[in-house]
Amino acid sequence: MHAWICEDPVGPQALTWKEVPTPSPGKGEVLVSIKAASLNFPDLLIVQGKYQMKPQPPFVPGAEFAGVVEAVGEGVASLKPGMAVATFAGLGGFATHACVPQAVVMPVPPGFPFADAAAFLCTYGTTYHALIDRASLKAGETVLVLGAAGGVGTAAIQIAKAAGATVIAAASSDEKCALCRQLGADATINYSRSNIRDEIKTLTGGRGPDVVYDPVGGDLAEPVFRSIAWRGRYLVIGFAQGQIPALPLNLPLLKGASIVGVFWGEFARREPQHNAAALAQLATWYGEGKVKPVIEHQLPMQELPRAFELMASRQVRGKVVLTNP
Ligand SMILES: NC(=O)c1ccc[n+]([C@@H]2O[C@H](COP(=O)([O-])OP(=O)(O)OC[C@H]3O[C@@H](n4cnc5c(N)ncnc54)[C@H](OP(=O)(O)O)[C@@H]3O)[C@@H](O)[C@H]2O)c1
Repeated sequence: MHAWICEDPVGPQALTWKEVPTPSPGKGEVLVSIKAASLNFPDLLIVQGKYQMKPQPPFVPGAEFAGVVEAVGEGVASLKPGMAVATFAGLGGFATHACVPQAVVMPVPPGFPFADAAAFLCTYGTTYHALIDRASLKAGETVLVLGAAGGVGTAAIQIAKAAGATVIAAASSDEKCALCRQLGADATINYSRSNIRDEIKTLTGGRGPDVVYDPVGGDLAEPVFRSIAWRGRYLVIGFAQGQIPALPLNLPLLKGASIVGVFWGEFARREPQHNAAALAQLATWYGEGKVKPVIEHQLPMQELPRAFELMASRQVRGKVVLTNP
C-alpha cells in the first residue's frame, strides 16, 4: 500500500507519499481499500500542528474516507469483505488502505457513490447536529451562514432549506455567492466588499437572523452577533480565519441570545445513538435529493498537496475529494 506520511507537522509541504507494509486488521478492526477521501479543514490544521488533537508522528492524515472492506479481524461479525463502507476515523485516509475499528465504520447505503460517501459524514453530521439539534431550527426562521460556499457552509444551506428555513448565505466572492444561490440560498452577502451589518439589516427588515452558523470566526463574529435577532442562537462551528474571536458578554444579555458550541466528533462519541438517528435522517434526505455534497475538485490521491493548497488559499467551493483507482 501507499500512504501520505506526516513525520513533522509543519504543513502539507512536509508530507511524503511512501510505500509502506499493508497492515492486517487486529481484533475488532477492518482493513479498508480506500476509494475516496475528502478534505476537512481540521486535516489541514493537523498537518500544521495547529489542531486540538496532536497525533504522534509519523502518522497518516485524512479523517474521512470511503471504500471497500478487504479483510476483517477477529470478532468482527457485522462487516464482511466486499462491503462498501464509510468512516470518520480521524486519521489514515490519505492512503490506499487503512485499518479502522469496526465501531467507527458504517455501511454505505445503495446509491451513494464513494466520492459522496467520503464527503458526507463530518460535513453533514456536524451541520445537522448544529442546526437541528443544538439550535432547534424551526421552519420559517432565518439562518445566516458564514463561509457559506465551503464544505460545512454548503451543507448548512442545504440542511436549513430542507428544514424550511430562509437562508442568507455570506461568502467572500461573487463566484462563491453564485454557488450559494444555486444551492437554494434566498439571499447572499459578499462580505469582502460590503458592510455585513448593513446587509443583514436590509435583508431581514432590521430584525436579524434567528440562527447564525459560523465556521469562520475572526473579525466577522462580533458584528454578526450584534445583528442577531431576539432569542437568537449563534452556532460556534470553527475558526477557519485563524483567529478565535472574543465577545463582550453584554451582547447575549441584550439580545436574550445564546452562544452555542458545536463539536460533532465528541457528540458522535458520547451520543452514538443520537448521531446514528441524525445520519439516518440525512441518508433519507440524500435519497430525496435534498442534500448532496458539492464536490468542486476530484483529484488523484497523489495530488494531496495541491488539494491542501486549494483549501488553504480559500479557492475551494464545496469539497475536495481525493480518489484511488
Ligand atoms: N465543530 C465541529 O464539529 C466541526 C466539524 C467540521 C468542521 N469544523 C470547522 O469548520 C470550519 C470549516 O471547515 P470546512 O471543512 O468546511 O472548511 P472549508 O471548506 O475550507 O471552508 C471554510 C471557509 O472559511 C472561509 N475562510 C475565511 N478565512 C479563511 C482562511 N484564512 N482560510 C481558509 N478559509 C477561510 C472560506 O470562505 P470565504 O472565502 O467565503 O470566507 C472557506 O470557504 C473549520 O474551522 C473546521 O475546523 C468544525
